[in-house]
Amino acid sequence: MLIRHNLILYQLFLHLPFGMAQQSALSDDAIWRVELNKTWDVLGPFPIHAREQHYLSPSFPLNLSEPINLNKSWPSSYGDDGKVSWSKAESDANGTLSVSFPNIRWQSLRATEGWAALQHHAVLRTQLTVYPPRFGSAPFPGLLIQLIQGSFFSILPIEPAHCEQHVAEWMSGNIYDMERALPRIVELPFAPSLDKPTAYNIFISGDYEIRLFGDPAVKGSTSPVQTIRLTVDVKKGSHSLMHEPSQDVLCDFVDGFAFGEVIGMGFRSLSGWWTIKKVKLVLPHAVLIAPSQTRTIPVIIIQEYPFLESQLQVEVTIASSDENIKKHTISLPISHIKHWTDIAHEPIRATYLYALTTPTVFVIVPPVMPSLGEPHPPILALHGAGVDVIDQCSWIDYLPRRRYNWIIIPTGRTSWGLDWHGPSARDAWAAVDALCSILQSKRQWHGWQIQRGSKVAIMGHSNGGQGAWYLASRYPDRVLGVVPAAAYIKSQAYVPLSMSRSAHYIDPALRTILESSLTPDDNDLYLSNLVDIPVLAIHGGNDENVPVWHSREAMSILQTRGPNANANVIFHEDPGQGHWYPSVFDNEHVQTFMDSVLSTQERILPASKFTLTVSVPSESGSLHGWKIESLLLPGRLARLQIDTDEFGITKVLTLNVHSFSVDLRLFECRAVHIGESMIPLPADQNTTLHFNFTNRTMCEVMENELANSQPPSRIQDILLSPGPITFVVPDTPSCKGVTVALRLAHDLNVYHKLDSNFLLESTAVMMLKTETLPPSNTVFIGHPSSTFPQIVLDKKKTPFAVKDSHLLLNDIVLDDTNGGRCDH
Ligand SMILES: *[C@@H]1O[C@H](CO)[C@@H](O)[C@H](O)[C@H]1NC(C)=O
Ligand SMILES: *[C@@H]1O[C@H](CO)[C@@H](O)[C@H](O)[C@H]1NC(C)=O
Ligand SMILES: *[C@@H]1O[C@H](CO)[C@@H](O)[C@H](O)[C@H]1NC(C)=O
Ligand SMILES: *[C@@H]1O[C@H](CO)[C@@H](O)[C@H](O)[C@H]1NC(C)=O
Ligand SMILES: *[C@@H]1O[C@H](CO)[C@@H](O)[C@H](O)[C@H]1NC(C)=O
Ligand SMILES: *[C@@H]1O[C@H](CO)[C@@H](O)[C@H](O)[C@H]1NC(C)=O
Ligand SMILES: *[C@@H]1O[C@H](CO)[C@@H](O)[C@H](O)[C@H]1NC(C)=O
Repeated sequence: MLIRHNLILYQLFLHLPFGMAQQSALSDDAIWRVELNKTWDVLGPFPIHAREQHYLSPSFPLNLSEPINLNKSWPSSYGDDGKVSWSKAESDANGTLSVSFPNIRWQSLRATEGWAALQHHAVLRTQLTVYPPRFGSAPFPGLLIQLIQGSFFSILPIEPAHCEQHVAEWMSGNIYDMERALPRIVELPFAPSLDKPTAYNIFISGDYEIRLFGDPAVKGSTSPVQTIRLTVDVKKGSHSLMHEPSQDVLCDFVDGFAFGEVIGMGFRSLSGWWTIKKVKLVLPHAVLIAPSQTRTIPVIIIQEYPFLESQLQVEVTIASSDENIKKHTISLPISHIKHWTDIAHEPIRATYLYALTTPTVFVIVPPVMPSLGEPHPPILALHGAGVDVIDQCSWIDYLPRRRYNWIIIPTGRTSWGLDWHGPSARDAWAAVDALCSILQSKRQWHGWQIQRGSKVAIMGHSNGGQGAWYLASRYPDRVLGVVPAAAYIKSQAYVPLSMSRSAHYIDPALRTILESSLTPDDNDLYLSNLVDIPVLAIHGGNDENVPVWHSREAMSILQTRGPNANANVIFHEDPGQGHWYPSVFDNEHVQTFMDSVLSTQERILPASKFTLTVSVPSESGSLHGWKIESLLLPGRLARLQIDTDEFGITKVLTLNVHSFSVDLRLFECRAVHIGESMIPLPADQNTTLHFNFTNRTMCEVMENELANSQPPSRIQDILLSPGPITFVVPDTPSCKGVTVALRLAHDLNVYHKLDSNFLLESTAVMMLKTETLPPSNTVFIGHPSSTFPQIVLDKKKTPFAVKDSHLLLNDIVLDDTNGGRCDH
């Protein structure tokens, strides 16, 4: 077997088990210790809407620059008399803390406000004491902190006077309890004493999310309980680059052959900057690794002969920032499985490269039979929130194996992902293409192939059911049929935003803009795209997690949308069933539906009239060959309403459409009526029409002049970076900008399994000048007057500019301070 280890490491925070062992030789008297006081002060509950913790101060309502008065009560509409005060909570030996507020009359709040009134925020505080070694003078190595199901934490001096000099640096916890998340590396706000214990305050923002913690009624309780786990350890070992096996990405080997083009090795830097120079054979681009970052290094596999060993040895060459070069051999465990047969199979873990360089795993269930003629379309199966399809395969056991169709089970980046939108949607489609490439790569797999860009049937449960609605309605021409089970419509319909704190202060005109940034996620708005597509929606009649009215409502919207919908659309309510039941997909009506949609290779024909609804053209596909390419007013909905009769298209109505394209091979159509004009069309090819602002009509353009422009969309789309997200940070290592970037890189890795790359500003400026910046979305953190943003903004591609070290928008000064500069 030949393994060509290419490329591409960015900064790694590594923990390496590479040199190891000294730490165990040290006696307890020679090491630093840390202790957490198990008694917590708790202030709350305060109303908060779902996910509002991301824009409320984590210490709300406290001002951490002032002394804390534990006798004081605070206004809160949840408490009797409109007040709440401090209470105590105890964590157990494992650091688990249960926070509840039994004095609140939750049932009375819930009777009118529903789940929204169980959402709450609390602020928690205890003390952390750091003990120096009894002997020796080892410097304090830093802390490793894991906060599970809490939203943010911060460590501060005990004395409020000191607090004024220490702005709280909040770090996000792992509130979603994401799988395989490494603890955070945390520096203390000031160095601990070398000869006596030093105490610090540690604060947690504790936020109850129905979505994460569930309805207490399911556990027979009326009172919501936050269960938060916090562990604090002193960082161990003098070696600072670590191989992290939990971050490895490995595929199964089928009869000795890798089921994937790539494997990944996880590294983390416990301290210092590192460069991965090469992996085994090929000298890659040298890769810079920042202190505390975790990265998974791709190793491309090219294999001619079967590999049957249980361990794969990979040699890695690593350099520290002082150019001290070392070689290490890493053993990767290989899981071997036998080629599937008609009676025996197991789910296969396969791999591919997401966003150019990120090794990514997905799971597939092989069909019983190879295809005899044309390849058969696969099924895309989307898991629910919190379901880790890599390590807990049980969900997959309830997806019945198909006779001819592969079942593709992507991760969506992580167990929560982005609710199958954004990078998670991209991951799902990429897994389909990846399977196609893998099956093409070996002659013995050719009989099992799928077509490139194949149409699929989509099924999903819970969040995955919602994801099935999402993918099908945004890419209707790629879909043969949809089975959304126990799906919610959209996040605001799941837990209403009615208990919003910010809504009491914000100008409603601004709130409208914030709320309309959810437009791309609102599945109900796009159901017009599904009226011609077969849908079987399923819901347990007593679902305690996603209430059954969601599916009934989606059906009702769909059925009133199109005259044709009633024939295609089936709603199956399973009476008495809860959120999950093993037969949800494993039953005759689902399999009969799948048989019928997967056996028609024919094009789904439009009814006499259809409407394509789109809000982000770059994240939407075509409907019956019609595709909206750009909008007149970005951020608003756009529609194409197409009327047809037996002779072809009769009329097209456009709403907010700047340009659209149509594949005329699919229609008998020589001309379209748009508004007042009749536009002649060439036969049998694709064409693009666009809106001409001068005479305010649609007309044909031969070349799509808009093809290269980046369409404006919400800022969240930065996550759709074509490569790892590049952080450009100030050259001064002590600058806050670096720690901000490191915190963001950690969160991108934990929550979205998105990779980040660090560039020092001086390097980035050089690359900008030589046009060699990597193909990725770039985030600059620093002052607007520094060189990198100056050069970028001087190109005048946006209405932003920098003048006299102030940031301007349309020539108006946005900031009136010089704050945030690193030289201060
Ligand atoms: C922990 O904190 C509580 C309350 O603040 C205090 O009474 C107790 O003495 C502390 N325990 C230790 C071991 O410091
Ligand atoms: C917090 O307290 C400090 C010290 O009393 C004060 O200077 C500051 O203005 C307060 N901040 C807010 C937002 O009230
Ligand atoms: C809080 O109340 C206790 C008991 O009434 C009292 O002893 C203490 O002095 C009070 N503390 C403050 C800061 O007011
Ligand atoms: C702490 O964790 C251990 C190991 O997981 C478990 O056996 C024990 O019951 C836990 N203790 C508590 C108080 O939950
Ligand atoms: C026309 O559009 C279809 C569907 O978008 C695409 O597959 C095809 O390659 C296009 N053909 C041309 C000539 O651009
Ligand atoms: C838009 O319409 C005007 C007036 O008919 C015409 O002069 C111009 O060339 C058109 N622009 C494009 C891009 O077709
Ligand atoms: C608008 O301009 C385009 C491009 O010049 C032309 O083809 C079209 O006929 C014009 N429409 C009207 C109504 O003038």
